[in-house]
Amino acid sequence: MQHKTINPFYAARLRHSVPTRPDEPFAPVYARLPLAPRNASRVPHLTSLYHFHRAGDYGDRSYPGNCGGNLIKDLLLYFRPTLICDPMAGSGTCRDVCDELGLPCYSWDIHQGFDACDPTDFSMEETFDFIWSHPAYWRQKLYADDPRDLSRSPTLEHFLRRYGQFIRNSARALKPGGKLAILMGDYSDRTEGFVPLTWHTKRLAFAAGLRQCCTDIIRFSHGASSSRKVYRSSFIPGLHDTCMVFERPITSQKGGRV
Ligand SMILES: C[S@@+](CC[C@H](N)C(=O)[O-])C[C@H]1O[C@@H](n2cnc3c(N)ncnc32)[C@H](O)[C@@H]1O
Repeated sequence: MQHKTINPFYAARLRHSVPTRPDEPFAPVYARLPLAPRNASRVPHLTSLYHFHRAGDYGDRSYPGNCGGNLIKDLLLYFRPTLICDPMAGSGTCRDVCDELGLPCYSWDIHQGFDACDPTDFSMEETFDFIWSHPAYWRQKLYADDPRDLSRSPTLEHFLRRYGQFIRNSARALKPGGKLAILMGDYSDRTEGFVPLTWHTKRLAFAAGLRQCCTDIIRFSHGASSSRKVYRSSFIPGLHDTCMVFERPITSQKGGRV
């Protein structure tokens, strides 16, 4: 019986397969999630497939790129950290979740002049056991009018160089055994074509001496503004982004760059 609450049905919004009018209504399609095995998890509904029909009352939903707070909350309840940091905070979703849970959280953003890609901006006096990060997906959405903003990177190579530095900064700011959770999405760029940013995230995290500590969490993009648009071109719509949780090894591996 408990499985029914762990794996409810979800609704994915899908345009009719042969649209006849641009204003044709959406037809809901229901798919059933696989059953999750029972285990000792404190958060049994946290599985590799993550959906929540309500974003929760965290952050500001009108902020570009805002993510709901429920996934952050579930990760904090699962990993039970004591000191949290969100170095690309946007509207402060992670901070609001931490406030609710009574957890201390450092929350910064380029809008306040903090550059997460600058090694000197991450204070080494403080180390964290959980860093939540939801970076810009390169230039899919633009944020601050500041060249240090990752979304203002002029080329993919420039973005990846600075993104790699951000991941190394985060790895150094973790306590041994601390976790770095990154929510990232792949997207089709206007000149580069498909950009596999989740693959790059893993590549850069491993190069920084981190290891992945649990399954990828595929977060369904309910409520994404792009889902209501009509495109003339043909493509396979991406309806999710991916949360990857990395860990700083307790004993630094020989030759690791943490
Ligand atoms: C996807 S948004 C985060 C949204 C946030 N999760 C929320 O729910 O509101 C990415 C954020 O990264 C910030 N950002 C981009 N480059 C940055 C940098 N170099 N240092 C710090 N923050 C940066 C942007 O200003 C933006 O607020």
